[in-house]
Amino acid sequence: MHQTISPAIFYWGTPVVLITTENEDGSFNIAPMSSAWWLGNRCMLGLATVSHTTRNLLRTKQCVLNLPSDDMRDYVNALARTTGTPNVATAEPASGLVFFKKMNGYKSVHDKFEHAGLTPQGAECVRPARIAECPAQMEAELVGVHKMFQDLDSDMTLALEVKVLRTHVHDNIRMAGHRNRIDPDLWRPMIMSFQELYGLGPKKIGASVLAKIPEEGYRPLTNPIEDSDTEEAKPEGHKR
Ligand SMILES: Cc1cc2nc3c(=O)[nH]c(=O)nc-3n(C[C@H](O)[C@H](O)[C@H](O)COP(=O)(O)O)c2cc1C
Repeated sequence: MHQTISPAIFYWGTPVVLITTENEDGSFNIAPMSSAWWLGNRCMLGLATVSHTTRNLLRTKQCVLNLPSDDMRDYVNALARTTGTPNVATAEPASGLVFFKKMNGYKSVHDKFEHAGLTPQGAECVRPARIAECPAQMEAELVGVHKMFQDLDSDMTLALEVKVLRTHVHDNIRMAGHRNRIDPDLWRPMIMSFQELYGLGPKKIGASVLAKIPEEGYRPLTNPIEDSDTEEAKPEGHKR
């Protein structure tokens, strides 16, 4: 039996990516994200237009896609609800998504490597640092930009196509006897499903800081429904 529902989010479960980009002052930013899918040597990244990572990527055309394993929950939680965008604390409602971040407890953090206790590692083809703790790292360049939600005349999100230039992996996820293969029996990606964090197994890998954001806060990007259905679930700042 199926029921017809109107979800506020459609995060059915995708691997977490920690994207590193270069800030204007030459330092590096990290953002956790999971609206990512792969085809050939391309990755499509669904990112908020105002995010610091998006700005850095559009300006420099370079990034590293670092994939955390399912034992890296504490690092991802430390990065959740942080942004490289300065002054989130003083954001006004007119600033849209930056204000959403303020209302949902996001903090401005300039040095996210230091903040999360992660180790920068030099890349070979691009300027942003790799994250040493991540078992898989892909240096990449921006090759395409697609505006999402054009039917709604919204400029909130972009789909960014990046091309993988070089791939680095920890030895312990490589398939024995093969130069260029990952052993899926050994690779343990971290999955974000409806804001919660999982490995490939059935159980959560622990509490998720992202999941503190009420799902209804995302509804402007999904299905508008009667306010009376959602009022209870709205975060304080979103209540009328
Ligand atoms: C597990 C996880 C997955 C996320 N997935 C996305 C995503 O797919 N797209 C996105 O725009 N933001 C996503 N976010 C939120 C970003 O991390 C957030 O916007 C952050 O402030 C970006 O950092 P920046 O502003 O320094 O680039 C996710 C956060 C977490 C913790």
